[in-house]
Amino acid sequence: MFPKIIQIETTTLCPSKCIMCPHKFVARQKFMPMPLIEKILDECAGKDVTIMPHQMGDPIADNRIMDILKKCKDRGLKILMSTAGILLDKEKSKALVDIGVDTINISLDSLNKKTYERIRKVSFDTVMKNVEDLLSVKRAPTEVWISAVDMFFDKKTRLEFIDYWKDTADRVQISPYVQYPRVRGFTLPRKKMKNLNWCQRLENDMIILTNGEAAKCCIDFEGTTSFGNANTTSLAEIWAGSLRRDYIEKMKAEKRKSLYPCKICVI
Ligand SMILES: C[S@@+](CC[C@H](N)C(=O)[O-])C[C@H]1O[C@@H](n2cnc3c(N)ncnc32)[C@H](O)[C@@H]1O
Ligand code: SF4
Ligand code: SF4
Repeated sequence: MFPKIIQIETTTLCPSKCIMCPHKFVARQKFMPMPLIEKILDECAGKDVTIMPHQMGDPIADNRIMDILKKCKDRGLKILMSTAGILLDKEKSKALVDIGVDTINISLDSLNKKTYERIRKVSFDTVMKNVEDLLSVKRAPTEVWISAVDMFFDKKTRLEFIDYWKDTADRVQISPYVQYPRVRGFTLPRKKMKNLNWCQRLENDMIILTNGEAAKCCIDFEGTTSFGNANTTSLAEIWAGSLRRDYIEKMKAEKRKSLYPCKICVI
């Protein structure tokens, strides 16, 4: 028993201040030390695991990222990396493709310059140029996905967004907006929470923050919850540990009612 996906927060640095993202409230250390990254990757080596080298931060803001991605590949691991794309010049895109990163997801959010810059607070023209360059150097096995959070789309702009990318990107996705605590830049009426007692993320995903804490879910962006710490405990032990087992058992019995972060989640 081992996670299928491990999100490693190599850095909390980020050049953007997206209105929907709680990144601005994150106060923990900025970098995960390299020995801890290596420990995590060594424990994953040879396993059928996808590494997502981001959580609250942008992986391209980490000067060590290419080295980290090579280390993933040396250990036979798949990589799905999400980035805002604002720091991704052509040279870096080539390096990612040469390393053999399996998936590079660009979080784009809108095709309208004004809306994009309202959401992401960085230059639309720079990002579009960076994505064009990335698509021009992309080759198998690397895939480029384009994603948006469902905020300002109407029927027409949604179709336009999908249509614009459908021939050049390998996948286009518009994901549901998550209302994080403390985020006021954008709000939607709170959806009625589904009465779920199971969640795929809890079953498959492990999140390791810069300080080594294994947060219960990426929704706990402040890292106030933990199933254990990867500095002192192996990933396999954290995964099989009583903290995680008890949480899942409670979720089955109580349907999230008393469980943070699941009780605030709309997924
Ligand atoms: C937190 S970011 C970290 C990686 C990178 N900085 C990026 O923007 O892709 C990971 C993903 O979360 C998405 N995200 C941020 N705030 C969100 C929200 N309130 N609801 C849903 N997704 C959100 C981003 O658009 C991005 O695709
Ligand atoms: S969504 Fe990504 S780029 Fe935007 S603030 Fe959050 S971490 Fe940074
Ligand atoms: S917070 Fe939401 S997405 Fe995360 S494990 Fe709980 S129910 Fe699943």
